[in-house]
Amino acid sequence: MSARILEGEQGIWESVALLRAGEVVALPTETVYGLAGDAFQPLALARIFEAKGRPLSDPLIIHLPEAGWLERVVRFESLEQSKFVMEMASALWPGPLTLLLPKCEDLPELVTAGYQKVAVRVTSHPLFQEVLRRLDAPLAAPSANRFGRISPTTAGDVRIELGVKIPMILDGGPCQHGMESTIVEVVKEGMRILRPGPISEDQLKKYGHIIPTSGIVNTPGSLPGHYAPAKELHILEKDISTLAPNPKVALLAFSMPPAELLQGFAAVEVLSPGGDLREAAANFYGALRRLDSSEADMIWAEPLPEQGIGIAVMDRMRRSSYGSRKSSPAESAHQGRVS
Ligand code: TXA
Ligand code: MG
Repeated sequence: MSARILEGEQGIWESVALLRAGEVVALPTETVYGLAGDAFQPLALARIFEAKGRPLSDPLIIHLPEAGWLERVVRFESLEQSKFVMEMASALWPGPLTLLLPKCEDLPELVTAGYQKVAVRVTSHPLFQEVLRRLDAPLAAPSANRFGRISPTTAGDVRIELGVKIPMILDGGPCQHGMESTIVEVVKEGMRILRPGPISEDQLKKYGHIIPTSGIVNTPGSLPGHYAPAKELHILEKDISTLAPNPKVALLAFSMPPAELLQGFAAVEVLSPGGDLREAAANFYGALRRLDSSEADMIWAEPLPEQGIGIAVMDRMRRSSYGSRKSSPAESAHQGRVS
């Protein structure tokens, strides 16, 4: 049996009924599709981990109906911290920003995998928002892919990833950003960016000091080998225009490559013909997925300029190419190689 894909009012209604009953449902967000379950029902949480094949050591993001819910899931360390967070939340939520904050005691341990902090966000997607409004409860929702694999940006992608494991997918069309939210840890001295995403460092620094992470980001789920296609992926070190065509290779180009290259590869995907970083980010996972199912032996990817959302895309591209690949993401997890 493959998951039903439903839209509109019927989709919302059935999502709410399934989630109330402790089931899991894939829902669209403005970043990527999430696999949602009631954050206060441990059985639903267990189902999320099971469907994704995700280790229980890797905590889940909680999606709140609105910022006012923060007080019910986090425990602010000071009045100052709560003011700082509320200021940032009122400016950037709903939107692709996840905040890591001290958790309150009532949250099931499974959500945070035993950590003392919980990751929270408010999505701007109208379908997800409507489901939350009717449920009147927060939803845990990691990206709706099998552990370590490419994140889904359409309902069809979710079905490929998890179709046999979940009952339903709410179809909200392609995701606007196509890149997961920016994750920010809030600490006394300011904030630390744990995962680059659609909200940029420039947007964040208006609200407080950003502590440099020197490339070593200590989150349980940010493994070096993540977002992985099944094929080897190599990031090009030389200019794409100097490449010789190769029919065994699939090419992932940032902007429009020279015309002769469009024919000479097993498959070619152009992320943004005009070189627009936001468009490229939105197309990245879908293009990677198509190249992965092409006839090619491997994928060559053109790097993007590392500015704005390009920083997030390059973070994912490097992880996709990790070792290309000496060990699987699951093996990396067991070796504790987190970065
Ligand atoms: O845009 C997004 O954030 C999407 C949509 C569906 O909301 N969600 C998403 O979830 O990307 P996920 O689970 O695929 O990625 C969340 C990352 C994981 O690497 C996880 O380990 C980390 O956030 N994380 C979650 N809770 C955490 C916690 N309490 N402490 C440290 N890291 C945490
Ligand atoms: Mg994920």
